[in-house]
Amino acid sequence: MRFQLPTYDLPSGNRQVQLVRRPQGVPLADDFALSSQAVPSPQKGEILVRNLLLSVDPAQRGWASAEANYASPVALGSPMRALAIGVVVESLCPDYQAGDCLYGFFGWQDYAIATPDQIILKVYHPLPLEAQLALFGISGITAYLALTLCGRPQPGHMLVVSTAAGSVGSFVGQLGKSMGCQTIGLTGSDDKVARCLSRYGYDQAINYKTADLGPDLKNRAPKGVDVYFDNTGGPILDTVLRQMNVAGRIVQCGTASVGSWAPTPTGPRNEREIMTRRLTWSGFIVLDHRARYAQAADDMARMALDGTLVYDTHILQGMEQAPQALSLLYSGGNHGKLMIAL
Ligand SMILES: NC(=O)c1ccc[n+]([C@@H]2O[C@H](COP(=O)([O-])OP(=O)(O)OC[C@H]3O[C@@H](n4cnc5c(N)ncnc54)[C@H](OP(=O)(O)O)[C@@H]3O)[C@@H](O)[C@H]2O)c1
Repeated sequence: MRFQLPTYDLPSGNRQVQLVRRPQGVPLADDFALSSQAVPSPQKGEILVRNLLLSVDPAQRGWASAEANYASPVALGSPMRALAIGVVVESLCPDYQAGDCLYGFFGWQDYAIATPDQIILKVYHPLPLEAQLALFGISGITAYLALTLCGRPQPGHMLVVSTAAGSVGSFVGQLGKSMGCQTIGLTGSDDKVARCLSRYGYDQAINYKTADLGPDLKNRAPKGVDVYFDNTGGPILDTVLRQMNVAGRIVQCGTASVGSWAPTPTGPRNEREIMTRRLTWSGFIVLDHRARYAQAADDMARMALDGTLVYDTHILQGMEQAPQALSLLYSGGNHGKLMIAL
């Protein structure tokens, strides 16, 4: 099987979804505006990319916000920063040629001018394009690298995962299972609980919205939790923390439950739990690990091709869907890696 680039058109203008207002919490449709520009021309060292699939990621909420973050905020009036898969239309850069399919920071727009530092991967595995965005987009790579580098699970370990049915969480559960862990997924609806069990191979799953999470988790993991892969922070983290085993590891990968960091929210004090249980609590940002992406992508592709990993995609059609896509993601309404096909 060989990689096949789908057919694509070359529009005569460049539609962009621009950030026009700083979001208060989760970005809303009115924080963005559609605009149409001329198709840009690359200069020496640059490439012109026609975007085919735009990624929708929780990280964009941080990039749109003026709150302190690991990345500079998107300037108002600029196209929204986004990952995307696109094809090179014209290249004035020796590393790339017309027809190359690439994954990188190409923004919510039809065309991007890019330099090599914006490119994350060449897309060439024999899988559908949307599968590659799900697997090697930041969701899959994050699951793989954060679990292996920070979680370091061993066979027989109890691994608990929050946002377990989401694009990161669904891979973490499957990867953990393939490493011999026992897995418990935490998620926000009965449908997602069912999907965790039937599709993503979790041994157990809990609807954290309807369960009494502390006692329920204690029942299901009576010997305690060795690795907690946390995508939510907040009350779910506070609860799981109190069930961690000595020398357990918490991977802080996301904070989906925290509405705003200004002012800094307060909650139960956890220092004593960390001390007495001798926990390791690692923060993880996938963009720190670019040198490892290609290897991670090859491993994920191999596992998808041999059936070890399943992936789900939620594909919206057309640029017009982008402004409301982040609200959909944060409402929990996506069923798989959220993306926009152009
Ligand atoms: N650190 C990194 O480098 C990195 C890279 C990629 C992603 N991430 C993080 O990974 C997490 C998952 O990302 P994803 O792309 O896979 O998204 P996702 O899980 O597909 O979608 C986000 C999910 O967050 C959950 N959620 C929303 N509000 C919540 C709340 N108040 N309390 C608890 N859960 C809530 C919902 O799931 P339920 O219905 O199950 O509640 C929703 O479906 C995000 O926190 C993201 O920031 C981190």
